[in-house]
Amino acid sequence: METKALSSSLGVEISGIDDLLDDVVIARCVEALKWRGVLLLRGADLDDETQITLSRKFGDVVTFGGREIFKVSLDPSVNPAAEYLKGTFNWHIDGTTDPVPIKATMLSARQVAMVGGGTEFASTYAAYENLPDKEKERIDNLTVVHSLEASQRALNPNPTDEQIAQWRSVPSQEVPLVWRRRDGRCSLVIGTTADHIVGLSADESRALLDELRDWSTQERFVYTHEWQVGDLVMWDNTGMLHRALPYDASSRRTMHRTTIFGDEAFK
Ligand code: OGA
Ligand code: MN
Repeated sequence: METKALSSSLGVEISGIDDLLDDVVIARCVEALKWRGVLLLRGADLDDETQITLSRKFGDVVTFGGREIFKVSLDPSVNPAAEYLKGTFNWHIDGTTDPVPIKATMLSARQVAMVGGGTEFASTYAAYENLPDKEKERIDNLTVVHSLEASQRALNPNPTDEQIAQWRSVPSQEVPLVWRRRDGRCSLVIGTTADHIVGLSADESRALLDELRDWSTQERFVYTHEWQVGDLVMWDNTGMLHRALPYDASSRRTMHRTTIFGDEAFK
């Protein structure tokens, strides 16, 4: 097994694997994912069954309508929730309204866009670590409210009452802005679902959230993945912000996604 860093702060490409499902290989992938945040296997070409088997090695797999594979596509005939997926164009963390967020997400590229459609990752571990001490002190004990509504408003600033009601059917959640992890590291719980910081005025709150997003998504904390058909990418959703780079809904870009339940609550 060979490893190659994808950028200075995050990401590792793994190659030279005979049996991806081998327990020793999995153990090394778990370590690599922990320290590098994003794992890439070029030309993995997994079928759905193998992707599910592999995903189960990392934890329990989330089901959507009884299925483990969720098709990420902007084509409503492939994914009826295509409209919501436009939210993936903004920096986000998956599952910020769940008490225990998703641990990791795996995408297998089935079809790629001719133009755009890369995926960007930003390490909030590295971003927090590199904040000046004064800034750490300023944010260390703040809490932030996350909601589906905040992420959808960013796409649709003039919603109907019905749309608002639908968004609000997902309860919002207050979590620590700085998430102190079991292993001693800290990540930032920010992104497009972050609605406001508790106790700050709306303007101060927005300014701080924008500042932390901009800080975290500087080039030095980011890896941009350009997809090739067959690529498998897995990321630590508890520490990486991510977003899809724009692509056309007619591009047929299709990712088969599996999602792994987390085991560490926000606290
Ligand atoms: C996701 C996601 C990004 C992409 O599936 O959670 O954010 O590039 N996908 O499709
Ligand atoms: Mn996502």
